[in-house]
Amino acid sequence: MSEDHGNLIKSPKQLILMVFASFFVPLIIILLLMVYADSGSKKSAGNEHSEATTLIKPVANLNFKDASAPKVNKSGEEIYKAVCSSCHAAGVAGAPAVGNVAAWTPRISKGYESLLTSALKGKNAMPARGGASPDDISDFEIGRSIVYMANSSGGKLAEPKEPATSQDDTKK
Ligand code: HEC
Repeated sequence: MSEDHGNLIKSPKQLILMVFASFFVPLIIILLLMVYADSGSKKSAGNEHSEATTLIKPVANLNFKDASAPKVNKSGEEIYKAVCSSCHAAGVAGAPAVGNVAAWTPRISKGYESLLTSALKGKNAMPARGGASPDDISDFEIGRSIVYMANSSGGKLAEPKEPATSQDDTKK
């Protein structure tokens, strides 16, 4: 081996060793780096018990609800500005413009539920949910934005009730 630097692999056994080494050595380095990077965030190693649990926790604590948990219901105005205003600010394609009392009054008189159904399912040029995904904007938030628009246009709709909290309402 030492005579010939050009060719490190001389036998099938060495080849297998090289394959294993080239697989495991980077793996071990990565693992060591992970442990090293992680150790920086820990303050004291005094309590061995808590040390152990914090080491185990990130693996065991797969919280699948995390994606939806931090979701805070947006206000009607926020939803309106983010989604609905593109059409409802100026009244694009026959959309009742916010502030246009004449356009809204007959619609509001149909009742909140009717407006909600139109908004959730779509109506003529109005896309369902204003084109937003139910993952991003809940029925409740759509309802709020309707109330915001209607009440900015002469309506007096009651704010919809917030759905029961911390339920797994994203699952269908
Ligand atoms: C792409 C344009 C567009 C977007 C975005 C949009 N709308 Fe509309 N919307 C319309 C149009 C057009 C109408 C009129 C539909 C009709 O009556 O023919 C309408 C009508 C409505 C109505 C009245 C429905 C009825 O039954 O009279 C409501 C309520 C409504 N939109 C809510 C919303 C909400 C809430 C959003 C945002 C989440 C939104 N819209 C986003 C175009 C849009």
